[in-house]
Amino acid sequence: MVPAELYKTVPPAFGHDVLALFGFNPNYVNLNHGSYGSLALPVRAFCDELTDEVESNPDKFVRIDCIHYWNRVRERVAKLIGAETDECVIVNNTSHGLATVLRNFIFKEGDILVGATTTYGSMHQMLKYIADIPPYPVLSTFNLQFPTSRAKIIQDFEEHIKKLTETGDATGERKIVALIDSIAGHPGAFLPWREMVAICRKAGVISVIDGAHSIGQEVDLNLSEIRPDFWVSNCHKWLFSKRGSAILYVPKRNQHFIKSPIPSPVTYHSPHDSDYQGPQDFVRLFEWTGTIDYVPQLSIGAAMDFREWLGGEHKINAYTHALAIAGGKRLAERLGTNVMDPDGEFTLNIVNVEIPLSGDVESTDEVLRIFTHTLILQWQTFAPPFRHNKKWWVRCSAQIWNEISDFDVLANALKDACSKVEEHVAQRNN
Ligand SMILES: Cc1ncc(COP(=O)(O)O)c(C=O)c1O
Repeated sequence: MVPAELYKTVPPAFGHDVLALFGFNPNYVNLNHGSYGSLALPVRAFCDELTDEVESNPDKFVRIDCIHYWNRVRERVAKLIGAETDECVIVNNTSHGLATVLRNFIFKEGDILVGATTTYGSMHQMLKYIADIPPYPVLSTFNLQFPTSRAKIIQDFEEHIKKLTETGDATGERKIVALIDSIAGHPGAFLPWREMVAICRKAGVISVIDGAHSIGQEVDLNLSEIRPDFWVSNCHKWLFSKRGSAILYVPKRNQHFIKSPIPSPVTYHSPHDSDYQGPQDFVRLFEWTGTIDYVPQLSIGAAMDFREWLGGEHKINAYTHALAIAGGKRLAERLGTNVMDPDGEFTLNIVNVEIPLSGDVESTDEVLRIFTHTLILQWQTFAPPFRHNKKWWVRCSAQIWNEISDFDVLANALKDACSKVEEHVAQRNN
């Protein structure tokens, strides 16, 4: 597949015709784009070509050419998210980006980290880890349970922050850092993060946004207007670049917080160096943080070309959003259950549907294994089941290759998986 030739042709209509542009096994019904992303064949062709170029002369590529590709990607993505080019750097994934931000704060005793009950698992563990090491900032967890409403989340979050800021701060220098999802992972829910950022700003709280699912799903992003303090988004999820590739956005006003990426690069200058001319140059710090394959990071521009050919962000997301709503309804009908968000307040391209399994069934490794193996190996489909607020749900990602009939396949697979889980629980209880 030669992208330049392909892009002279008319793109296929969204739905199953688009499967020809992806490398899935023909029998696989992919309703879980949200976890790891999916590489479009034209983007893969770009990656293969670039790999040939890299391997034809690694020194030339790494020492001379790579930086030009890298800067061009930063420039293009910055426009897409309403940022300045030099406020954006490319990192391996959201975990790396958020670790870099959170581990660069110089905490003092009494500082506070704010997470939520819906914070992505490893990010929550990262908050716990930071709270476990000196000087032991305190972890405060915002309780977020679905079903709920956007208005209630905003009100509760404001209350939560107010309580924290009202408690005594002897030094007057206490730092409060809130990690906020733009689109939570489980449940998959588009949160009122813009309003939450505004609440933080008003209260003097630093907002760090886990935007893992944002780019490519949340259209018309304008970070310069929303003004989060830090923001990271995977590009290998909804933008279709090769995994792993992510953008870390740090507005100029906050770049002084970032002393060093993790791992530290040779461009790090210690204030104790005789030639120290600080502050650090934010972008230069991220140009080389250890040897990696740069191709995934550089594929972000190719992914943007692919999406432009398909018709652009609005056209893509109009289809996937409508399908998420319709597919969620269809799945709930087929399972005899409900969608988590009937008004669609939290729904972009991800929909959560209750599955017919008692909420008393615990989310053990074995239960999750039965779900995973039954769905993937026996039914050749997948969407992640999860337990939330005493019920079992499944999170479905609607993509441009999906059609409503895919939700029927998932319904049959889930019914089978639920009965297998019930059998397992009955046996265990005997
Ligand atoms: C909300 C959220 N945050 C963070 C991550 C971590 O992304 P990565 O593993 O690419 O670092 C994910 C991954 O699915 C996620 O859903």
